Amino acid sequence: VTQSVAIIGGTGPEGKGLAARLAIAGYEVIIGSRSADRAFEAAGEIGTLTSRSLKGAPNEDAAASGDFVILTVPYSGLTDTLPPLAEAIGEKVVVSTVVPLQFANRRVSMLDLEAGSAAQEVQALLPRAKVVGAFHNLGAGHLVDITHHLEGDVVVCSDDAEATQAVIEMTNSIQALRGVNGGPLAVSRYVEGITAMLVSINRLHKAETNIKIVGLDGHY
Ligand SMILES: NC(=O)c1ccc[n+]([C@@H]2O[C@H](COP(=O)([O-])OP(=O)(O)OC[C@H]3O[C@@H](n4cnc5c(N)ncnc54)[C@H](OP(=O)(O)O)[C@@H]3O)[C@@H](O)[C@H]2O)c1
Repeated sequence: VTQSVAIIGGTGPEGKGLAARLAIAGYEVIIGSRSADRAFEAAGEIGTLTSRSLKGAPNEDAAASGDFVILTVPYSGLTDTLPPLAEAIGEKVVVSTVVPLQFANRRVSMLDLEAGSAAQEVQALLPRAKVVGAFHNLGAGHLVDITHHLEGDVVVCSDDAEATQAVIEMTNSIQALRGVNGGPLAVSRYVEGITAMLVSINRLHKAETNIKIVGLDGHY
């Protein structure tokens, strides 16, 4: 059975990139937006790019129809975006890619969040959902450039074992990416923080980097 993925805020670079990669992997993808027009436009663009058929819908309709919900809105948009979607999302698996970065004086840093991480804030805003942190360290440039061979590890964190497993499988369906179980949702704080490190490395080396965990010996 084909599984479907709704991407909330899927009209930005990260959402479009994940949409492209998941459509190619065989998922039915619904791109969500605050604007139906922008959603249709992005679905058409990624459909042309991937030669797959994607759907576009307002965020709430997308959230209602996807088996999985992926959040690719900016951190600053979470508190406005999620409460109106809570009913449509219910107990679904919700993947947070959100990284609470701030840029000041041309330096990147993490916002100091009371909840610990953006993923834990998502869980607080959607108490019934099975929230999973994943895809934080994957840059949008390489995701959306479908000629780029993706490799590296995606650390997957959640408090629900089945949700973790489903998102690891989703990750493994994308080229040479490997999903690695990172443990409880609270660990997402550190995974989100690695993105700040990668942004700094990327700027210095004019590169788009990702991470790979060594030493797992096949157990992940
Ligand atoms: N860019 C990357 O390389 C990268 C890498 C790893 C993780 N991430 C994470 O992925 C998320 C998206 O990144 P992005 O670069 O694609 O972001 P973005 O382009 O700034 O935003 C993505 C989409 O979110 C919607 N949006 C913007 N402001 C919003 C608000 N206040 N409330 C609700 N929706 C809003 C917009 O869609 P509509 O206007 O169509 O609704 C926009 O197209 C971020 O949380 C980021 O931390 C990004």
